[in-house]
Amino acid sequence: MKLTTFLNLAAFGVKTILFKKNSPILGTVIVTDKCNLKCRHCSVNNITAIVHPYRQIKNEMQMLYGMGVRILFFCGGETFLWRDGQLTIRDLVIEAKKTGFLIVNVVTNGTFPLDLPEADLILLSLDGDRERHNAVRGDTYDTIMENIKNAASDNICFYMAINQINKNAVREVCIAARETQNVRAVSFNFHTPYPDTRALALSKEEKKDCCTVISSMMKQGAPVFNLRSAFPYLINNSFPTPCHQCVVVENGKLSTCGRCIEVPGLCGECGYFFVAEYTLLFRGSLKIIIDMLKTYLKYI
Ligand SMILES: C[S@@+](CC[C@H](N)C(=O)[O-])C[C@H]1O[C@@H](n2cnc3c(N)ncnc32)[C@H](O)[C@@H]1O
Ligand code: SF4
Ligand code: SF4
Repeated sequence: MKLTTFLNLAAFGVKTILFKKNSPILGTVIVTDKCNLKCRHCSVNNITAIVHPYRQIKNEMQMLYGMGVRILFFCGGETFLWRDGQLTIRDLVIEAKKTGFLIVNVVTNGTFPLDLPEADLILLSLDGDRERHNAVRGDTYDTIMENIKNAASDNICFYMAINQINKNAVREVCIAARETQNVRAVSFNFHTPYPDTRALALSKEEKKDCCTVISSMMKQGAPVFNLRSAFPYLINNSFPTPCHQCVVVENGKLSTCGRCIEVPGLCGECGYFFVAEYTLLFRGSLKIIIDMLKTYLKYI
């Protein structure tokens, strides 16, 4: 991470903690909800299948920048399906960097060739070893691994949503993150049980078991881009929600924290690690602050 980026984010953190501010720092733009897959755990694909035009996304980026957002995510649907004429997701990343965002990340299912050297991180969803990943995501594992091998840059971070199908494959994904070329780390989430995927939710005991495996893999040198100090809060769902420092914009509509804020009762069962990590950080938890500094400086 560049020194200026670090100082900028640190200043935001100090202001937020001292003055208990609620301004956002992390923003997500949904470029489309169109997707080439239909994963078992996902409730947000192909609802409209609209690919939002460049001009609109540029305006949304400028709006977020104007609100103070400096860490930007592009998400979907599938981000690599985004097109406007000749423009691709890569042009959006370049535009975001030009706008002044300090960190720009893209979330993808990894089924398209990976040519995003300008992104700080490509969060690539890997949901287990071949068998369990394919059980969640269809027959895509081998294509993804081939794309990773041929990627234009080494800025890939696996992104695993742990659920009933793949809860016993956490270790395998940690090992893959450690041993796959071009992959820097792995970041986890627990399944967030939307009404149509409640059956995939993990119990408290199951979350605890997963955190034990992740912690043990961290001790064995697995590159995990999460904060161990947030695990107890994630297991018990005892972190504050929603995250007021996070916003998402989809088709001009701005929401605090996530699109899921509209699902009644869901925040109480939230499995997104970033929510726990950011809300605890901005509450001023010293353990989380130190853990975050160490982790971010290592992987970005
Ligand atoms: C909605 S997808 C969009 C980006 C891209 N299509 C992909 O799969 O990475 C973003 C991430 O959300 C995760 N996800 C989807 N539904 C989820 C849920 N109910 N709980 C937790 N994570 C979920 C996916 O596994 C993926 O890592
Ligand atoms: S690839 Fe991403 S958006 Fe598409 S169905 Fe799977 S999780 Fe949902
Ligand atoms: S469920 Fe609530 S707390 Fe979790 S990401 Fe969605 S809006 Fe945020």
